[in-house]
Amino acid sequence: MGLCRAAGRILTLTLVFSVHPIGGTASASDVRCGVHKVEAMARACAEVLRNRARFVHRPNTPEALRREENSRVRLAKRWAKAESAASEACAKQSSTWQTAWTLLQKRVESALDAAEGPVCRRRLAKTLANSCRMWTRLEIKQIEDSPDAGTSALRLEERLNTRLANLWKMKECAAPTPQQVKNTARQLGGYAAGLATTRSIAAVAAPTGLRFGVAIEAHEVPADPVYEGLLHREANSITAENAMKWRSIHPAPGTWNFGPADQIAERAVNQAMGLRGHTLIWGGTRSPDYVEEASDREVLLEYMEDHITTLVQRYAGAVDQWDVVNEVLPSVIDPPTADGLDDNIFRRVVGADYVAQAFQFAHAADPQAKLYLNENGVLLPGARQDRLIAFVEELLDAGVPLHGIGIQGHLGLTPPAAYPNRQQIADAIQRFTDLGLELEITELDVVTLFFGAFDEPGEPPIKQAALYGWVLRACLENPGCHGVTTWGLGDHLSWVRTFFGFADDPLPFDENWQRKPAYFAIRAECAAAAAIQPPG
Ligand code: GLA
Repeated sequence: MGLCRAAGRILTLTLVFSVHPIGGTASASDVRCGVHKVEAMARACAEVLRNRARFVHRPNTPEALRREENSRVRLAKRWAKAESAASEACAKQSSTWQTAWTLLQKRVESALDAAEGPVCRRRLAKTLANSCRMWTRLEIKQIEDSPDAGTSALRLEERLNTRLANLWKMKECAAPTPQQVKNTARQLGGYAAGLATTRSIAAVAAPTGLRFGVAIEAHEVPADPVYEGLLHREANSITAENAMKWRSIHPAPGTWNFGPADQIAERAVNQAMGLRGHTLIWGGTRSPDYVEEASDREVLLEYMEDHITTLVQRYAGAVDQWDVVNEVLPSVIDPPTADGLDDNIFRRVVGADYVAQAFQFAHAADPQAKLYLNENGVLLPGARQDRLIAFVEELLDAGVPLHGIGIQGHLGLTPPAAYPNRQQIADAIQRFTDLGLELEITELDVVTLFFGAFDEPGEPPIKQAALYGWVLRACLENPGCHGVTTWGLGDHLSWVRTFFGFADDPLPFDENWQRKPAYFAIRAECAAAAAIQPPG
């Protein structure tokens, strides 16, 4: 990155941090806590890496293994000290440290896996350790809003570049490519900084252009000022969780219940947030009785046109993306149908072209809105994913005004919930964006229990954080993936608790609005992506 371009990026970051309405202003204690955390995380990051560098080239003799183990124990003790120093500065936040630490270690491991050969790994580990320190120092300047943050960013950038240049000249480091090494180093520095900072997801993600959204109910947000504050600080987009569904907003012909949806639209406009309109058409007995009981194609088409036109026109300018049709495939728990498409009232009465018709009505009502097809259960490879791809291709061939695919992303750690791995997530996103459409993850949550159980009590939050992190990373690494929306913010308000009737914890905040490991994983992935973002 050229120096001027780097300066531009840092300037943008600083501006975003200081004046962006959703960035928020840090209090003095936030700053103190942030600095402590960043310092501790930087030390930990560098120490883990130095430790790795020391042992990575040694033979696996019992003596070498013993020394390595001793060194790990010493490291753990140092970490515990850093943790208690930081937790004094950040009351109530210490329980998340252990998990942040585990996430960082995992990230270090995978960064080192990118390099081949012990010598290269050792050198890479050392360079990464420097990178961690450099990026975290920069992070501190930004947290403190230091006037020379821009200049020191340039100096750090230069030194990092020189070190990396030396590294990739080494013949032992022929693989991976210099660019990969450079990206890995900066990403890891960004990751450590992202785990440690006190800035919000939206502020940290700003340089990446990511839309980070949360699904909300109109009445729940103003009822809880902590929720309201966090929502506006962390997210730059909202979705109407239920208020815009046909059954809620238009329960009978000519009867409209606009109140809650209007409140959500006003919030989006007043706070300059994006708004996802969810959802115009949704089969599977989710529509009001008069729709579910329709038996005549023309009548049902008229209902559809009236419903879609009224809503899309009313919220034009506020809603920038509509989920025009939700779940065109059968629900994941229903038996498959002969042609792989959901057998719902629209399909039976209008015919398979109900989808194309819905998109045409929406496009005519607001030609500016981005129109999405939203679907569940398609992150795993297999028949569902293939069927959706084929269906989308048919729509595009027929010239239907379809602009984006929403992948819902209701995931979980145990069956029957979907638990895709990182590669599967990246591949799914790639397949859909290869169709030339934009993509968003529209309803992300990760159920931890369902019908399974875990051996170790500490396991679910870490596995959950890893899965959130994979989704964020896969999206941030694919230029066609524009956003991630979580289906709620705090565990206690999740649909999962009401719908399944048990107290699961699927979201990034707990029921006391404390940040969970999943939150840190999301923010760290954003910071890592921002660290390698080409300046705009
Ligand atoms: C689907 C729908 C959402 C919501 C969830 C569960 O994913 O698209 O609107 O109803 O189920 O809350």
